[in-house]
Order: sequence, then structure tokens, then C-alpha cells
Amino acid sequence: MSDYTTVTKVSAIREGRGKAFTVNGRRIAIFNEGGKFCAVDNTCPHALGSLGRGRIRGGIAVCPTHGYAYNTETGECQTDPRLRIRTYPVIVEDDQIKVAVEQM
Ligand code: FES
Repeated sequence: MSDYTTVTKVSAIREGRGKAFTVNGRRIAIFNEGGKFCAVDNTCPHALGSLGRGRIRGGIAVCPTHGYAYNTETGECQTDPRLRIRTYPVIVEDDQIKVAVEQM
């Protein structure tokens, strides 16, 4: 089981938006949807866009580069089912967002 790493404060990620971070050598994107946080790979497997610059709605993160949509619970790409991203467990404690990302 992975340990949780403190990544940022709750207030650092605007509602409906994402932000990219490096955790244990991996680039991840954390999204805030209505105060609920989720974490996925930052790199879009379509053409390496930055998902952290995208938006989230209904649990679906949209890559800002070409608009591919990813389910942030399962990592499945709705636009191209051959593509998939990793998802990471997130907890919030004392206003801090913590993510479980295994060491690279
Ligand atoms: S790089 Fe993300 S949709 Fe093309």
C-alpha cells in the first residue's frame, strides 16, 4: 500500500479546474470538482497535452489540447477507448491535499 504525500493546499486548486504537480517523480494532475478532489496522470496519452490545464465536470476531465475526455475514477478515455490514464487515491486532511503516488 502506498503512503500519502502532502501535495498542496485545498485553496490552491480552483473549483472546476486542475493543476499539475510532481509527486515522487511523476507528473500528476489534481482536479477540484465542488470541493471533491481527484488525481490522475498529468500527461494526456493522445499527444502529451497537460491535463492539469484542463477542466473537470461530472467526474470527467477534459484535455485542453484537443478535448479528449477522461473518466477520473477509472482512467478510461471516452474519446478513444484505446487510451487510459492512471488514477491515484486522494485524501484531504487539515486543508492539505494528499495523494498516494508510488515512487518511480
Ligand atoms: S493531447 Fe490531449 S487531447 Fe490531444
